Amino acid sequence: MGEMSQIRNIVILTGAGISAESGIDTFRDAGGLWEQHRVEDVATPEGFARDPDLVLNFYDMRRAALTRVEPNAAHAALARLDAEWGGDLLIVTQNVDDLHERAGASRVLHMHGELKSALCTACEMRSPWDAPMIDRPPCPVCRAPMLRPDVVWFGEMPYQMDRIYTALRNADLFVSIGTSGAVYPAAGFVRDARELGVQTQELNLERSEGSNWFHESRQGRAGELVPMWVEEMLAR
Ligand code: OAD
Repeated sequence: MGEMSQIRNIVILTGAGISAESGIDTFRDAGGLWEQHRVEDVATPEGFARDPDLVLNFYDMRRAALTRVEPNAAHAALARLDAEWGGDLLIVTQNVDDLHERAGASRVLHMHGELKSALCTACEMRSPWDAPMIDRPPCPVCRAPMLRPDVVWFGEMPYQMDRIYTALRNADLFVSIGTSGAVYPAAGFVRDARELGVQTQELNLERSEGSNWFHESRQGRAGELVPMWVEEMLAR
């Protein structure tokens, strides 16, 4: 790939597929979270207003499950790339787990929020959070018992879109890993990148919905593909 020779700045988008081999359910695969739960019930502001206990319990269970999983070879490889890559690098994750950080990556942006963060619906402050919310604990900042999961729901604006688009404008390479390409705006990043003249690659178990937009698409498990890809990048 001749065009790939001048790569300095990289934006990496990750989705549920990168955490699948750690034992975290994806959303849209067979047996995924959206087969077990209705999106409208547990991932919308309206669902939360209708049945807060159901929603708080859903995220309490997912937060608790983080203590039973470990980062896999794909998270480790991206952490290594983050540590060793001299140019700009940003890992934009749609995942609300903390496996990129636990693998050692530091240039991580959680565009859909984090399980281990609480958002106060009274004072709007975000606080690091590691406990259940079902018993309505007080906000660490204002003490109001009005916390919700700091997770971006359908109909809400993902976090730090300005920072993401700035990184895309400066990028030489955009790589999408383990995401189905079903949820916007993340699903549109590949087209945005192409319009900006950025090289694009996807690493996913199967071709994603937007697969044809990528210059290159590789199919396989993240635990195998990502370490290989990182080796290639660091050998350049
Ligand atoms: P999806 O469940 O939609 O897609 C996961 C993708 O990962 C699929 O294309 C799988 O083929 C692929 N995959 C599964 N196992 C894999 C493996 N071992 N290695 C590589 N790829 C694998 O998850 P996302 O695309 O992350 O949003 O979903 C995007 C958003 O939709 C989520 O952030 C969440 C959800 O609704 C919110 O909750 C706001």
